[in-house]
Amino acid sequence: MRSSYEKLLATIALLSAVTDVSAQTNSTTVGSGPSAAGPTWEQTDYDSSPPVYPSPNATGQGWQAAFQQASNFVSQLTLEEKAQLVTGAPGPCVGNIGPIYRLGFDGLCLQDGPLAIREATYASVFPAGLTVAASFDRDLARTRGVDMAQEFKGKGAHVALGPVAGPLGRSGYGGRGWEGFSPDPFLTGELFAETIEGMQSAGIQACAKHYIGNEQETQRNPSVTKAGETIEAVSSNVDDRTMHELYLWPFQNAVKSGVASVMCSYNRINGSYGCQNSKTLNGLLKDELGFQGYVMSDWEATHSGYPAADAGLDMDMPGGIGFVTQLPTYFGPNITAAVNNGTLAEDRLDDMCRRIMSPYFLLQQNSASYPRVDASSSGLNFFPEANYAFNYTLGPANVDVRDDHAQAIRELGAAGTVLLKNLNNTLPLKTPSNIGIFGNDAGEPTDGLYFDGDGDLGNVGFEFGVLPSGGGSGTGRFTYVVSPLEAIKNKVNSYNPKALVQYVLNNTLVNQASGYSILAPVPPEVCIVFLKTWATEGYDRPSLLVDWNGTALVETVAKSCPNTVVVTHSGGLNVMPFADNPNVTAILAAHYPGEQVGNSLVDLLWGDVNPSGKLPYTIAYNESDYSFAPIENSTALLTTTDPNAWQSNFEERLLIDYRHFDYFDEPVQYEFGYGLSYTTFSMSNLAVTATGSGYTALPAKQAIAPGGNPALWDVLYTATVTVSNTGSVAGAAVPQLYLGLPQPVNEDYTPVKVLRGFEKITLQPGASQTVTFSLTRRDISYWDRYTQQWTIGTSAIGVMAGYSSREIWLNTTVTPLSGSSGSGSGYGSGSASMAPPGYSNKTSSAGMSMPASMSSGMSTVVSGSMIPASATVPASYMSGSSSMMASMSATTTVPAAYSATTAASPSGHGPGAPGCSDVPGPWQHAGNNNWGHGGPPTQSGWA
Ligand SMILES: *[C@@H]1O[C@H](CO)[C@@H](O)[C@H](O)[C@H]1NC(C)=O
Ligand SMILES: *[C@@H]1O[C@H](CO)[C@@H](O)[C@H](O)[C@H]1NC(C)=O
Ligand SMILES: *[C@@H]1O[C@H](CO)[C@@H](O)[C@H](O)[C@H]1NC(C)=O
Ligand SMILES: *[C@@H]1O[C@H](CO)[C@@H](O)[C@H](O)[C@H]1NC(C)=O
Ligand SMILES: *[C@@H]1O[C@H](CO)[C@@H](O)[C@H](O)[C@H]1NC(C)=O
Repeated sequence: MRSSYEKLLATIALLSAVTDVSAQTNSTTVGSGPSAAGPTWEQTDYDSSPPVYPSPNATGQGWQAAFQQASNFVSQLTLEEKAQLVTGAPGPCVGNIGPIYRLGFDGLCLQDGPLAIREATYASVFPAGLTVAASFDRDLARTRGVDMAQEFKGKGAHVALGPVAGPLGRSGYGGRGWEGFSPDPFLTGELFAETIEGMQSAGIQACAKHYIGNEQETQRNPSVTKAGETIEAVSSNVDDRTMHELYLWPFQNAVKSGVASVMCSYNRINGSYGCQNSKTLNGLLKDELGFQGYVMSDWEATHSGYPAADAGLDMDMPGGIGFVTQLPTYFGPNITAAVNNGTLAEDRLDDMCRRIMSPYFLLQQNSASYPRVDASSSGLNFFPEANYAFNYTLGPANVDVRDDHAQAIRELGAAGTVLLKNLNNTLPLKTPSNIGIFGNDAGEPTDGLYFDGDGDLGNVGFEFGVLPSGGGSGTGRFTYVVSPLEAIKNKVNSYNPKALVQYVLNNTLVNQASGYSILAPVPPEVCIVFLKTWATEGYDRPSLLVDWNGTALVETVAKSCPNTVVVTHSGGLNVMPFADNPNVTAILAAHYPGEQVGNSLVDLLWGDVNPSGKLPYTIAYNESDYSFAPIENSTALLTTTDPNAWQSNFEERLLIDYRHFDYFDEPVQYEFGYGLSYTTFSMSNLAVTATGSGYTALPAKQAIAPGGNPALWDVLYTATVTVSNTGSVAGAAVPQLYLGLPQPVNEDYTPVKVLRGFEKITLQPGASQTVTFSLTRRDISYWDRYTQQWTIGTSAIGVMAGYSSREIWLNTTVTPLSGSSGSGSGYGSGSASMAPPGYSNKTSSAGMSMPASMSSGMSTVVSGSMIPASATVPASYMSGSSSMMASMSATTTVPAAYSATTAASPSGHGPGAPGCSDVPGPWQHAGNNNWGHGGPPTQSGWA
């Protein structure tokens, strides 16, 4: 969320930050030429989003007792109180639901954000989601969730506005990627779930955001032209399979974990705004995934009253259309009026209220001992106290909630730092007595300790000082930052008080060649160059290079200093033109590690902690290597008068990050999953065991529970490998399991491999341990857009175990569907050419083992390609018999009358109904929208 002032700044910046001019075409293939990866993109398939009405009632599944308490509570409310409960209002927190004191309800306090309680004094600032992702560590992710939630609770908040899985990270240029985890949906899904469960175990409601397709900041909100015409927000246009297998995947984990709330996003999805998209809210989230909590809008992402409620929105934030005032509001009195005049069913309003109150009772936030909102909160946020609509009861001011969390922050900061290069065992350092420090990222932040991004930091950030976090609503208010320079001085002093720590922190000075010669004697035994990359809400990154001429800084220093170590603090991936410079002996990607940034780094530099972070994204050679999934932007768009001009077509479909580079067999600098250690590990004995037999392609039809059809979560296989520490020091390994899922007949092209397992384990030198990965039905299925089912393919699944997406040590296959013939080992055949220089694929046939007892459910692979040449839709798919409604009828509450086929609108609230006419932009249209190319014309709306 952002203030109007921020938005103004963003608009100005957008107008001056034009990079790409591209013509709009209606029908293209991905990347054309050798990059073409899929059938023709038919723009008309993405012009609209199918209507799904009515909004499903929560049933309290998974939290029945709390749901009953919520129902009792709601039954005592007046209509006006119900409207109040679903509408934000000015107050001491970033979001506020007013109290209803007669029922003992003090209201709800919602606070940013994903790495800290932001608008608060005496709180910790934790590592960003990006750092959690790079740790590949489930336990540390959960601990962070618990620790953060304790701080939110200590400050009297009820809802923490995080964690983030949207953006997922389609583009490395995305300004908010660091708030979330990784472009890999499995890695994100697992760590998202750990975070949510950790937070809620400490009594705080988590909010899974931003739902969905919120993959760019540019034009994320509507804008207004000089002539006063509204230009709609960018539409993220996503096909159905990609929606399920990439962007929805982690949200499915979140719902399975019982997440209290979901925040709908600013952008449009296939033409319909995120907070009024009945397909994504009623359809995907509440029907298909069985979500029992409430949907809140992102701040000012609501564009209507009862039509949004009917589309599945449960809570309007911050409430006022003018942001800081209570009225006017799309909800509030408009909800009351809509019930009174019969346009909004009171049943829908009751459902909204029950959804909001269930997590409150579940987490016992009604307890008399629940802390009250910290009185210092009022002065820190944007609502003038004069605008408060309620008499809020506050607690003491400036409560210190930091506890001993600094230790876990320091640990996670190191665990999420990736050692990319380490020539000649440069690291760990021994006891150098002359160290050179370079770069504006090494010292104390000079522009204050709060990077809120709505001041003059803009899309540039501050020049001098270490960058431990990004900006915008996802930042935190630091109480201190341990800079790298401070931590290094302390460390050096501990072993040699007379050693030199020489530094020049002005990049410009060093690049002008005068800076390095300030040092004497030279060269230092080691030069450490600190680089940073700012990223913030409201802007997409202008470049994938490091900021402040940092690339030149490295080259300048390395020219004179033969032992140059590079450290980056960055909100996402950086291309590193200096990576192969022989004088650059070590590189550490330290991401955004939070307040202990210097200590986390020193622990690694001197080997007190052995690096174990892995890249949660791929570092390619050039920025242009990422052109397959661009941020939508152009001069033409920035000056358009077409309200519907902003269309971001996700034409690359499933092939983002390593899926793209593997599919097209492109060399990269450092691949997904890669990261060095001070020790070495081997891997042996891959075994895959079926937990049952007679598997069917489709899951058994079961009643929907939170997380979707429970059968999707059945573990069908376990895979084990033996991991051994073959080096001389203790360290943590991250064995990774990838699957080569078969290319479904007549489907989009399928990734060569996808991550489906990882664990982090610490081993003493010489020690070995068996690691087990569980593979669920969802893990081994693809989303079939024709049948609307997760489906197990008919041929062999490649199972690959290794230490990165390109360092595969062992592989085997399983064929879950008995009777089907295997069709190839394509997943492994390209592996040799996929290995980047410096680390070969260690494929060991000795490691493949498949016990004879498993043969019932499997067959061995024969040969051939896993990717059929043709991907056209066969005639058999053209009948309407496999429609969405047919497949859903047993498990959902959507009456057939509301199916897209009939395009009927409930009570006049649906698409095209008069009530929708006050809504800007192209909302849902009835009609034959498949959200995907090539769908059968007779098919019902959603495929
Ligand atoms: C794209 O579609 C629009 C409307 O459907 C049409 O007016 C326009 O001519 C099309 N452009 C191209 C290049 O086909
Ligand atoms: C929700 O429940 C109410 C009764 O409480 C019922 O009238 C309505 O039809 C239900 N809605 C759906 C979509 O099942
Ligand atoms: C109801 O919503 C409309 C916009 O649809 C707004 O103009 C009006 O002021 C709102 N009413 C109140 C009481 O906030
Ligand atoms: C009912 O009330 C809502 C909210 O004020 C309003 O937008 C709508 O136009 C009204 N409908 C009728 C039929 O009066
Ligand atoms: C606000 O609440 C406090 C404590 O409940 C009470 O003393 C005070 O009179 C109230 N103020 C208003 C304006 O209602």
